Amino acid sequence: MKKFFKYLGLGLGGLLVLLGVGLTGVQVLGPRSRPASPEKVEATAERIERGRYLAHHVGACFSCHAQKDLTSMSRPVVPGTEGFAGGCDPGFPGKVCFSNITSHPAAGLGEWTDGEVMRAIREGISRDGRPLVPLMPYDAYRSFSDEDTRALVAYLRTLPASAEPSPVSALPFPLSVVVKAMPSPLEGEVAHPSTTDTVAYGRYLTTVSGCGGCHGSDFAGGNLTLDTPMGPVSTANITPDVETGIGQMTRENFIFRFKAYQQLDPSLKMTPQTVTFMPWGLFAGMTEADLGAIYDYLRTVPAVRKQVIVHPSPREVAAN
Ligand code: HEC
Ligand code: HEC
Repeated sequence: MKKFFKYLGLGLGGLLVLLGVGLTGVQVLGPRSRPASPEKVEATAERIERGRYLAHHVGACFSCHAQKDLTSMSRPVVPGTEGFAGGCDPGFPGKVCFSNITSHPAAGLGEWTDGEVMRAIREGISRDGRPLVPLMPYDAYRSFSDEDTRALVAYLRTLPASAEPSPVSALPFPLSVVVKAMPSPLEGEVAHPSTTDTVAYGRYLTTVSGCGGCHGSDFAGGNLTLDTPMGPVSTANITPDVETGIGQMTRENFIFRFKAYQQLDPSLKMTPQTVTFMPWGLFAGMTEADLGAIYDYLRTVPAVRKQVIVHPSPREVAAN
């Protein structure tokens, strides 16, 4: 139970992604991949700072790659465990484990080249050519610009080494074959989006933060319901629909909804009415400008009228 709790929300989403892919285009030989780029990332202070921001708050890497207290409403990362092996997710068949991504030479990424780390983050290929289980949201991270990916690598290199290795993930057949078909190499440069056009920049942030991975590609929610030890919870409709989405939420309300998690008392526990698996506490560290840009982008997606009961009673779940 404790384990399940720890990765609450992560297993099912990944599994749905796996099943959604279907078995078309499966290759027996191995995933489509390209050799890792030989580039060497220069660790400037500016890059490390940008990488810290992206890893903690935009990519929310430590919602998986760290030790956390998931009963707390703010789900804080245990300080100093950023990048540590996060155990294995029992919600999956086989073994799905959160890798150690600290700078430890054997247990972590210490001996990987910068290009190998960049390829794992955006293209889903491990150092040895193995396809990563897509619970690692490489499909969302694929949109990280070259410059932001370099920043992530520069920052990961600064994480204090943890010697605790993570078991290598292994999925049973046929999932093992399905995940092989998922990676596709990036072709060419991934340019950084305009930061002056807030809708374009908001779209970028929304994509790399993986909002659509949980709320659905149409952002209408209700696509993912998890039965947690505290009770069931579904993803919300975050389209601009006035009645069933966030159409009535002002930009200020939206930003505040996130920022409120920074002030939460860490001893505040989740209840059946508040349980969530959205990493609010990590996203809350995004700047107001970035959260505002996400809001501006979400205003432009088609409104979907779809009533979602975010905290259904167990009876409502059974009826579905
Ligand atoms: C939702 C959970 C989740 C999030 C968020 C996440 N990861 Fe992962 N990551 C995983 C899992 C699971 C694996 C292992 C997959 C496997 O072994 O097949 C992994 C593997 C990796 C690997 C490859 C390690 C290896 O030994 O092969 C790297 C590098 C990595 N993640 C970096 C990141 C970075 C950087 C971020 C944030 C930008 C991030 N991850 C966010 C779940 C996550
Ligand atoms: C790991 C899954 C997950 C991710 C990633 C995620 N969400 Fe959520 N989100 C949820 C769940 C579950 C709920 C409903 C429970 C709650 O309110 O926390 C929710 C609720 C919300 C709400 C509250 C809606 C309301 O009507 O009160 C907003 C706003 C929201 N998400 C925006 C976002 C944005 C923007 C992103 C990307 C930056 C995002 N979410 C990423 C799972 C996720």
